[in-house]
Amino acid sequence: QPVVVDSVAALRTQIHDWRRDGLRVAMVPTMGALHDGHISLVRIALEKAERCVVSIFVNPTQFAPSEDLDKYPRQLARDLDRLGAAKADLAFTPTVGEMYPAGFATKISVGGPSAGLESDFRPTFFEGVATVVAKLLLQATPDFAVFGEKDYQQLCVVRQLCGDLDLPVDIVGAPTIRDAHGLAMSSRNAYLDEAELKVARQLNVILRKTAVALAAGAHQNDATEEAIRDLIAAGFQKVDYVEARESLTLAPWRRNREGRLLAAAWLGKTRLIDNVGVPAA
Ligand code: PAJ
Repeated sequence: QPVVVDSVAALRTQIHDWRRDGLRVAMVPTMGALHDGHISLVRIALEKAERCVVSIFVNPTQFAPSEDLDKYPRQLARDLDRLGAAKADLAFTPTVGEMYPAGFATKISVGGPSAGLESDFRPTFFEGVATVVAKLLLQATPDFAVFGEKDYQQLCVVRQLCGDLDLPVDIVGAPTIRDAHGLAMSSRNAYLDEAELKVARQLNVILRKTAVALAAGAHQNDATEEAIRDLIAAGFQKVDYVEARESLTLAPWRRNREGRLLAAAWLGKTRLIDNVGVPAA
């Protein structure tokens, strides 16, 4: 099992010792309920660096009052077993009070890639993410930090944050890990019953089909409107967005550029997101 620390001071002591010994450090920020997607990030971290620190912190500032903060799955003992098996060295498990002591009053607002998509439906989400990620990276000062493409807009926002603030960390993007049916692994999949799981698996199928249509020259609005119809027909109750963007900047997509097709849709009380690449014409 990894060493577990819950204070910033203990985290810094451990990382300082590694640095002194010439070891490189890679960080994997998570909210726990670890699945194979998270574990793949640990594997990538350990390809980049000799030591891997995984943070497990369900960050309240990225949840809106109406969202699932209270019922978000928490399973620390199981998470630590999984991290041990993956050979992660250190787990950082701060309390809310350690991260946000009384009087905490700073928010980081990132522009650029945070516009639209998730922000249209979760307007304070990226402020919460950027603030906690900046804190974690400054607390641990890793050489690398690994983020999944599963949360593609988040990855772009984190890159923007680190670039703009000159945080001395290499951000590493990691491919989305899926189940045998193409469903992207997510801690929130635990909310789905058997019937919903079947519907959920259509999300990636429909996105891939839409990406193929776009790459073949379909008009963007036609293709995404058809995708929304397909999602509703498959059993999703509500589609927040299906939208193609430029993959690097998240600017509006142009055909001669590498694209990313991103989507969010509701299944009962569960909100799922996914994204796939769209090759340049
Ligand atoms: P969480 O949802 O726990 O995800 C932690 C990391 O795992 C993120 O970088 C996410 O993109 C990645 N991840 C999740 N599912 C994945 C999958 N199926 N394949 C590959 N990577 C996957 O994202 C967060 O936590 C939080 O917003 C956080 C960055 C920790 C800030 O609180």
